[in-house]
Amino acid sequence: MLVDGKHFQSIWRDNSTGEIKIIDQRWLPHEFAIVGLNSLSEVVVSIRDMWVRGAPLIGVTAAYGMAIAMSEDSSDKNLNSARELLNSARPTAVNLTWAVKRMEDHLRPTPEAKRAVAAMKLADLMAAEDISINRLIGEHGAKIIEEIYVQKSDQSPVRILTHCNAGWLATVDIGTATAPIYVACEKNIPIEVWVDETRPRNQGAALTTWELKHNKIPHTLIVDNAGGHLMQRGLVDMCIVGSDRTTRNGDVCNKIGTYLKALAAKANEVPFYVALPSSTIDETLHDGVSEIPIEYRPMNEVTHIQGLNGNGELEKVQICPDETKAENPAFDVTPSEFITGLITENGCKFI
Ligand code: MRU
Repeated sequence: MLVDGKHFQSIWRDNSTGEIKIIDQRWLPHEFAIVGLNSLSEVVVSIRDMWVRGAPLIGVTAAYGMAIAMSEDSSDKNLNSARELLNSARPTAVNLTWAVKRMEDHLRPTPEAKRAVAAMKLADLMAAEDISINRLIGEHGAKIIEEIYVQKSDQSPVRILTHCNAGWLATVDIGTATAPIYVACEKNIPIEVWVDETRPRNQGAALTTWELKHNKIPHTLIVDNAGGHLMQRGLVDMCIVGSDRTTRNGDVCNKIGTYLKALAAKANEVPFYVALPSSTIDETLHDGVSEIPIEYRPMNEVTHIQGLNGNGELEKVQICPDETKAENPAFDVTPSEFITGLITENGCKFI
């Protein structure tokens, strides 16, 4: 998608040097920093410390991590240790283990001398597939937006609430939850996006607003607690969120706070959709609440907040008394009964 009118992906292979480049998302929206990933350990850190984040992008970054590992040492021993290191970087997004397994299954029977090239080729393919999958999610989802639009007697914009960032920054390009929005806008359907700030890391405030702004999609930032109020007042036509892991019966694990939005949506008869590539579906799991591993992140993400100070410098400030105990579950599970439909590259499955 566009940044200052120029097309970017969230991860790419530099044409001239072959280096894997990413947008370091820790500094957005205030600094647009591009960094190179040159070793397996750098890739692990970039996932663990959220330079890159979002389930599909974590998966593709891990695939490039496997490829970089094979260029360092293509032995079976290193294949195993790369797999273990990458899989332990973050626990919740199933796209990580899915991507690592796909790479491993391809590389294991490949002769060692050919592994580095074969790995890079497959990682490139997975990056390209992510984009085409998201385009399909966009086309399927845009049909749902269009149906809502034609039912509106006043032809006013379709007001869509989204949580966290399931936009192009969370994928290689286009996004999942944002894909239907971008495609609907291409079809000239008027849209207004309600963007949840998404405490504690503020992916909505920092990332979703930034990408919608650069792609000229009308949007309004709201605090996480405003969604229920807006739905009660009839100001939300639909919700679309992403997913980090979805069980075979349709329970959806996504950024903390998604569940509360789904409860409010159900109570107010607002359709609640989840947009996801089918690689986010974990067929081995049935009950999301008891089976999906939930990442717990450091307390200081809750006790502190990052922003620009009066001198235009990035600063972290404390928002509670010294030594306040904090709990920081990064994801929650929305049971399938609260979900209207899952939008994947294969179409919309109504639940
Ligand atoms: O902790 P994050 O920023 O990686 O969490 C991201 C989300 O929860 C997204 O909604 C999810 O990964 C879907 S991304 C298309």
